[in-house]
Amino acid sequence: MAKRVAVIGAGPSGLSALRAFAAARDKGEAIPEVVCFEKQADWGGQWNFTWRTGLDARGEPVQSSMYRFLWSNGPKECLEFADYSFEEHFGKPIPSYPPRAVLADYILGRAEKSGLRDWVRFEQPVRWVEAAPEGGFTVISNDLKQDRVVKEHFDHVIVANGHFSVPNVPEFEGVTEFEGSVIHAHDFRNAEEYKGKDILIVGASYSAEDIGLQCKKYGANSVTFSYRTAAQGFDWPEGMEEHPLLTRIDGSTVHFSDGTSKDVDAIILCTGYQHSFPFLADDLKLRTHNRLYSPGLYKGVVWNENPDLFYIGMQDQWYTFTMFDAEAWFARDVIMGKIALPPKAEREADIAAWTAREEALENAYEMIDFQADYIRELVADTDYPSFDIDLTQKEFKTWKKNKEKGITTYRDKNHASPVTGNPQPVHHTAWWQAMDDSLETYLKTQ
Ligand SMILES: Cc1cc2nc3c(=O)[nH]c(=O)nc-3n(C[C@H](O)[C@H](O)[C@H](O)COP(=O)(O)OP(=O)(O)OC[C@H]3O[C@@H](n4cnc5c(N)ncnc54)[C@H](O)[C@@H]3O)c2cc1C
Ligand SMILES: NC(=O)c1ccc[n+]([C@@H]2O[C@H](COP(=O)([O-])OP(=O)(O)OC[C@H]3O[C@@H](n4cnc5c(N)ncnc54)[C@H](OP(=O)(O)O)[C@@H]3O)[C@@H](O)[C@H]2O)c1
Repeated sequence: MAKRVAVIGAGPSGLSALRAFAAARDKGEAIPEVVCFEKQADWGGQWNFTWRTGLDARGEPVQSSMYRFLWSNGPKECLEFADYSFEEHFGKPIPSYPPRAVLADYILGRAEKSGLRDWVRFEQPVRWVEAAPEGGFTVISNDLKQDRVVKEHFDHVIVANGHFSVPNVPEFEGVTEFEGSVIHAHDFRNAEEYKGKDILIVGASYSAEDIGLQCKKYGANSVTFSYRTAAQGFDWPEGMEEHPLLTRIDGSTVHFSDGTSKDVDAIILCTGYQHSFPFLADDLKLRTHNRLYSPGLYKGVVWNENPDLFYIGMQDQWYTFTMFDAEAWFARDVIMGKIALPPKAEREADIAAWTAREEALENAYEMIDFQADYIRELVADTDYPSFDIDLTQKEFKTWKKNKEKGITTYRDKNHASPVTGNPQPVHHTAWWQAMDDSLETYLKTQ
């Protein structure tokens, strides 16, 4: 009987896993039975935008933290699938920083083309996974449409439930009495709500940067950032400034650790997310924060304590879809017996070596090189199509420098594709002026 593989989640990571098996199938290889469990009614994970916050129509926690007017914050060339270029999908080269709808169209285009939909059980969240006494795993899911519990056996499980959905929400003194609105970035949906307002943003990473800029772009009066460790340090547009950590809130006045204060109308906590696996038994559960090498995962993918269990997409992400593909191809080949795992102690030593390298990283440029080397190592063992990883490293570093030069202008630059080698065009409208983020407007040429 064919082996059975459960994939938890049909976001980009889960879809990479499905695509990896489909690619082997298309080459005539005998593949296991693959069942993907997805709690939402459609696939795409974060990219499946919703207006909802809190719970969805079935009472499940909303997955997507994305919002209207979200554009890619990195060059699309650094996340391009090696087996499905942007040019193949759109029929032409397109600019480098697409809005959400364009990227979603691309990701889902490959999934549709590969005929992966039949493998997904939508509206069926996984509730529990534990090692089975006979080997493999017992997987308990909830078929929400039929309102029934389903218990099954699988030989392998791939966990791909994402880690930017369960908010990290710190408490600040006086917040309950704050006179304005307080939300976490997970529930932010529309910058236009903040038109004319003075906003405090807590946090100093990508969500803070992007939500702060969005609010200013769509008419906020002022944006004040508050950082815990280090300021973002960009040359912000007028009306935006950074302060050290928020210490307390008094009515509508927020106080910072440098003794300054400011009156604000709204607070948005851009304080990151928690890895959360409520459906995994303790001995299978990854415990980590958002870092570049997750503990206990051989090659960042194989659960060392039980190598029939795999995780995809659990790292902090410079690379995204490219890295998920590399991980998925690796996991597939372990499951299909094409890659033999070394003994546990050797795997442990490999994890320790990568972790030591991660802990010695000193700056963003070294982090980019680290994650590129990680991808290189994974794809070297598989038949993932070749692409120019050196070029992606170069483009990432150019992107980083462009951001330092202009936080509102870096998205106006163009990069070259590591898959086709072609330079991509400059977008017809500067990002700071582009208010319409629809696919149709983005793809228009002038
Ligand atoms: C606001 C924001 C903006 C971002 N912007 C970019 C960007 O511009 N470019 C970029 O490359 N990346 C971006 N990212 C990173 C993003 O996380 C990745 O692009 C990608 O979505 C990660 O894919 P994933 O499949 O690992 O997780 P997700 O996209 O979160 O997908 C996980 C899937 O698992 C499902 N699931 C969860 N629990 C269960 C369960 N128990 N049972 C069944 N199904 C379950 C979810 O419903 C979801 O469909 C952004 C992230 C955020 C939060
Ligand atoms: N396309 C886009 O434009 C876009 C937009 C938003 C997000 N994203 C993506 O979303 C993902 C998540 O990004 P993120 O910024 O939400 O999370 P993140 O990168 O993990 O950053 C979390 C931030 O929260 C801060 N923080 C945590 N606890 C805090 C506390 N108690 N007090 C003050 N600050 C605290 C951290 O500060 P320290 O530095 O002190 O730890 C850090 O600055 C990334 O992959 C990003 O690329 C993309």
